[in-house]
Amino acid sequence: MNAGVRLHGVRKTYGDGTVALDDVSLSVPPGRFVSLIGPSGCGKSTLLRLVAGLEAQDHGQVSVHGVSPEDACAAKLIGLVPQTPALLPWLDVLRNVTLPRRMNRRAAARRAEIAGVEARAVLQEPDMLSLLARAGLAEAVHRLPSQLSGGMQQRVAIVRAFGLRPDVLLMDEPFSALDEFTREALQEQLLDLWDELQTTVLFVTHSIQEAVRLSDTVVVMAPDPGRVVDVIDIDLPRPRGQQLLEQGRFHAYEDRVRNALRGAWRVPGAA
Ligand SMILES: Nc1ncnc2c1ncn2[C@@H]1O[C@H](COP(=O)(O)OP(=O)(O)OP(=O)(O)O)[C@@H](O)[C@H]1O
Ligand SMILES: [Mg+2]
Repeated sequence: MNAGVRLHGVRKTYGDGTVALDDVSLSVPPGRFVSLIGPSGCGKSTLLRLVAGLEAQDHGQVSVHGVSPEDACAAKLIGLVPQTPALLPWLDVLRNVTLPRRMNRRAAARRAEIAGVEARAVLQEPDMLSLLARAGLAEAVHRLPSQLSGGMQQRVAIVRAFGLRPDVLLMDEPFSALDEFTREALQEQLLDLWDELQTTVLFVTHSIQEAVRLSDTVVVMAPDPGRVVDVIDIDLPRPRGQQLLEQGRFHAYEDRVRNALRGAWRVPGAA
């Protein structure tokens, strides 16, 4: 079985001729935490949407645990935190986060088959109220999305994805609208979940420090056309506490990513 997430020779062109991704190949082994970083417009969200089965590529292949993104999605293997939270406006916070869990037994059986786990484990209900409380949303469980701040909406979308306990978790700049302390708390929660479930994570960020701290691998992308320009494995011990962030070896990885990004900003063909 081709476990994990695989893209091979993928091209995605939008209707107006924009080449959002060109010849992108990427292999994410199961259980790995991979970040995508790169200038605005380099195709990070497009890549996540292809893996989530929300867009189709014009060339190449995308697979999730050896099946198509559509199959993986139907079997509820994938959790997606989109760049904008996309909550259902007529449901309160609690119902927004519990809705995707109401999966039927057939989807659970298919998921168990694809991911090679027991259906019972897949059907296990997480305690959504405690997940909401850990995300600082205990007081907000009965509010509607329109009554929440942008950062609160973002946290609801994160809890919704965590609650699925997905085999593959796709997160598109999930922490961008959060203050530093909330961001750190949710990073911890994400790492706990990743550790517990051995979820495969694809994580989009614009923060070099966040990418290096969280990831096993950082994928650097460049625009026009969207492509992968560097793949940097982060060989640092975990857990990566505050102390490590101040060490030279951490900064050395930040510098490597920064240099790769600097190259990504250069206009192709320019001197
Ligand atoms: N639905 C669409 N129709 C046409 N062009 C699109 C569409 N979605 C994205 N694009 C274009 O494809 C390219 C890649 O967009 P994408 O949203 O994947 O970039 P991104 O790396 O996520 O950027 P950001 O960091 O700003 O979120 C951009 O040039 C964008 O304008
Ligand atoms: Mg994006």
